[in-house]
Amino acid sequence: MVSHPVSPQKFAARLNAFLRERLPLEELQALAEKKKVPLHKHSLWYYLGGIAGMLLGVQIVTGLLLMVYYVPEITSAHASILKINTQINFGWFVRSLHSWGANLMILALFVHLFSTYFMKAYRKPRELTWWTGLALMGICLGFGFTGYLLPWDDVSFFATKIGLDVASKVPFAGNLIAYMLRGGDAVSQATISRFFVIHVAILPILLIGLLGGHLLMVQVHNISEPNSFKNLEPAEKTYEKFFPTFFLKDILVWILCLNALFGLTMLSPWSLGPEADPFAPAPIGIKPEWYFLAPFQFLKMMPAMVGPIEGELVGLVLMSLVAVGFVLVPTFDSGASTARSRAATWFGIVVVISFAVLSIWGVLS
Ligand code: HEM
Repeated sequence: MVSHPVSPQKFAARLNAFLRERLPLEELQALAEKKKVPLHKHSLWYYLGGIAGMLLGVQIVTGLLLMVYYVPEITSAHASILKINTQINFGWFVRSLHSWGANLMILALFVHLFSTYFMKAYRKPRELTWWTGLALMGICLGFGFTGYLLPWDDVSFFATKIGLDVASKVPFAGNLIAYMLRGGDAVSQATISRFFVIHVAILPILLIGLLGGHLLMVQVHNISEPNSFKNLEPAEKTYEKFFPTFFLKDILVWILCLNALFGLTMLSPWSLGPEADPFAPAPIGIKPEWYFLAPFQFLKMMPAMVGPIEGELVGLVLMSLVAVGFVLVPTFDSGASTARSRAATWFGIVVVISFAVLSIWGVLS
């Protein structure tokens, strides 16, 4: 007897029927089709969260591949990265994708944070979306800080040492936290072990939980509408369906971003400095990654003493107040008062300009 192969269409139809009988796909489809995205001149910013999510996917895949060859020991870490760069097929490519991807993801997150801030998307009922977002930002900066040390080259070693020394000056718990992260008084094997566990286990677990909450909130409250759109007559408001219209555009934007990521990776593969020597003096002009440059530069420009208090301490307290401002903004600006709304906008503008100026100054100095 001759058996006929099943055509792809028939196979797809059977699979569809199989899944529909077993999963609530109709409900999910109805939910996705019900969701609508407002169309206005600021709609572009709605793509940023999706871009960050797509880049997170790249980080997970490339991170898992790197873990196959990376060795978190001070005697082997640098050599294992060198091996990935020079001996493993496409190793340099995967490593560069991970490093460039991390930078692009943090950039996308900063734009997402500030665009949702200026569109006032933190207001009731989206406070939890905002707070989970802030926690996600903290986690992603944590990924950047812990990942930076892992290659164990001279810049990463000394930048981590300086970063932890600064953190130890934070009033109350700073010293204890820095001591626990280092695993003692010096950056050593204990530090690399801790940073590795934080980078590949603790932060991913926290991230997945918080991201689930963040996206659930977006689903529950739908996408926010800026005031200029909300105040229009119902007949003047236009929307597009999230599924499939916006989702297909999302995919197009992801492809464009992936092109940029692949271009950067191919044109400028991520470099690796000489192996760290903890007993050597710190190389001149050591700097952290660009996203930590603004706080770094801010602390550098503080005078040694502000009255009776150490200048660095004053700087740390001022930066903590800015962070507290971002946490409390949904309670301060609920939308009821124009004066408060303006104050929140100006606070955001001052922070963005200071961040940009300090970062550029940090790069140039
Ligand atoms: C891993 C990090 C993150 C991912 C993957 C992510 C993803 C998303 C996605 C897909 C959306 C819906 C579309 C959009 O508005 O872009 C969204 C909305 C939102 N996100 Fe994030 N996000 C992240 C981090 C953050 C951060 C750092 C903040 C700011 C503190 C934030 C605040 C918000 C707010 C307030 C909304 C609601 C926007 C609205 O309703 O218009 N998110 N996020």
